[in-house]
Amino acid sequence: MTNRLRLGVNVDHVATVRNARGVGYPDPVRAALLACEAGADGITAHLREDRRHIRDEDMRRLKEVLPVPLNFEMAPTDAMVEIASATAPHAVCLVPERREELTTEGGLDAAGLGSALGSRVEALAAAGIRVSLFVEPAPEQLHAAVALGAPVVELHTGRYCELVGRERQAELERIHAAAALASELGLECHAGHGLTYDNVGPIAAIGTVVELNIGHFLVGEAIFVGFVEAVRRMRAAMDRSR
Ligand code: PXP
Repeated sequence: MTNRLRLGVNVDHVATVRNARGVGYPDPVRAALLACEAGADGITAHLREDRRHIRDEDMRRLKEVLPVPLNFEMAPTDAMVEIASATAPHAVCLVPERREELTTEGGLDAAGLGSALGSRVEALAAAGIRVSLFVEPAPEQLHAAVALGAPVVELHTGRYCELVGRERQAELERIHAAAALASELGLECHAGHGLTYDNVGPIAAIGTVVELNIGHFLVGEAIFVGFVEAVRRMRAAMDRSR
């Protein structure tokens, strides 16, 4: 194994199951602690504007009890910047958000958003929070991240996961090229969205990617093998490819 690839476990969908019944369980904070026991290097949670899964109180509790860094995913709005600054997570990942979407469907248009995004990156950095931008694996987005002062990008792997055959291969090549460019530009490179045991290998093998954020598949697998075992298996699948 060369440089260790970090695993950030996203616990949003534990909260989705809880909220489906409007009760207090299953608790995403309990799941986060189990993920840490199983080898997660960080915990990721997305406070959506409609609070459909993670809630403000979950973020506060995660920050309070986690023994590993908390990565706070959020839309780039003033209201979210205020909440993140008060929560003081290790990191924020800025993502695009549309209320009608099932999940984060595309990357942030860092190139198009310009100064509106830049002022939020600046405010978060001033609060001592490391900022990452969730972007498509496209050169203009990486150049925009540098121009906006974000030190980290997370490459959106959703398209790679959905495609098959040659099209998937072409998307994988785009991700490789983006990861290489990120490194040239001095950006820390993460990746995530849609990753499973079956498709994580080629992404984990990209040496300049230092962190993967994975959630939905792990919560689903937990139904069959338990959360600790699901995270352990993902960790093992990542390590095998490194
Ligand atoms: N990274 C980011 C920026 C995301 O928005 C998400 C989904 O919340 C993930 C990673 C994890 O994706 P998945 O739940 O499909 O593993």
